[in-house]
Amino acid sequence: MSAPGKLVLALPKGRVKDESLAAFRAAGLTLADGGGDRALRYDAGDAVVIEMRNADVPTYVELGVADAGVVGKDVLLEAGARLVEPVDLGFAACRLSLIRPRGARGTALRVASKYPRLTAAYLRRVGSSAEVVKLNGNVELACLTGLADAVVDVVQTGATLAANDLEEVDVLLRSTARFVVNRASLKLKGDSLRALIDALRNLPDAY
Ligand code: PRP
Repeated sequence: MSAPGKLVLALPKGRVKDESLAAFRAAGLTLADGGGDRALRYDAGDAVVIEMRNADVPTYVELGVADAGVVGKDVLLEAGARLVEPVDLGFAACRLSLIRPRGARGTALRVASKYPRLTAAYLRRVGSSAEVVKLNGNVELACLTGLADAVVDVVQTGATLAANDLEEVDVLLRSTARFVVNRASLKLKGDSLRALIDALRNLPDAY
């Protein structure tokens, strides 16, 4: 379980971490950048920060190792974790889309994705019996190499699609970063978590 007293925050490595720290500071927390490049866990002042791959954030928060965290709605839905999701932070906006080589025709028989559950649910919804193949990164490569006829992946700027002559055929969902909270922590550290939730909800558009 998390340390008594201080909040433990699970943040994904990279840009979302920096944007999350900026949001928490704007919400009143004093947080140092901390740790150095390779530190995975550090005391940042008003909270302990633990860093991980974004797909692991729901697990750390659901199991109570972290009291709260920041993760994309796309990852949250894929994980199916039982978390409280009190704030849409608005940043890291992207869409989860069905992608094919430009001009591809015919039924897709195999679809690759880092999001196998959401992909399978989507295929059921549209009446497709295509096989789902789970990959862990650079998913568009599956389309380029013939591993799959289509992929379901994140589109943010569209630069990856343009650079690889791929096209977005359908949008499964739109995603932004969410502040997520462990259910037990909401009781055990209710005062600090509720104050943080209120402050995050009331952040100005620019901070
Ligand atoms: C993500 C996603 C796409 C790309 C989309 O990959 O999987 O490949 O970004 O962004 P764009 O529309 O702005 O080009 P990421 O760099 O996170 O790496 P990954 O594929 O290894 O997860």
